[in-house]
Amino acid sequence: MKEYQKITHTNTLQVIPWNDLDAKRKDLIQLATKAVDLAYAPYSNFRVGAAVVLENGQTFWANNQENICFPVGICAERLLLGYTHANHPDQKPEILAIVAKKADNSGLATVTPCGLCRQSISEYEMKFKKPIEILMYRPDGTVLQADGIDALLPFKFEDLNQ
Ligand code: THU
Repeated sequence: MKEYQKITHTNTLQVIPWNDLDAKRKDLIQLATKAVDLAYAPYSNFRVGAAVVLENGQTFWANNQENICFPVGICAERLLLGYTHANHPDQKPEILAIVAKKADNSGLATVTPCGLCRQSISEYEMKFKKPIEILMYRPDGTVLQADGIDALLPFKFEDLNQ
């Protein structure tokens, strides 16, 4: 077979033990955990909480909000980033933490942001010209950490004039 030029993208996530996190990151994950239980997810029963810390240190949280017309529902991450940017358009989101509970309610779930949410995170990175750190809590007590959306959304759409 013919050999073509290859473009390779390396995606790296760190697996960080809970005890190695600093207080700021632990607090943010705890805030996201609180938000999980307030999620409105009567259709999937998969509850997601997200929390963000802005550059000025303010924190906010949100959760998924479902709808009987399923596509109308919105993920925790996108609701949160839209809300914080609507209210604090000059504040860069610094770290985003995500926690979820399994649909069968048996405990915490492993969650990474869906494609739409990755694109939304990318938008705010573009606006503020800085990566947003993403922390994804895992049921085994470790945290998956991405330095920015590049690790989760390689080859992303980000230029209307290229
Ligand atoms: N969901 C989120 O809120 N965030 C994610 O990262 C993954 C999925 C929501 C959407 C829907 O309400 C439910 O989880 C099941 O997909």
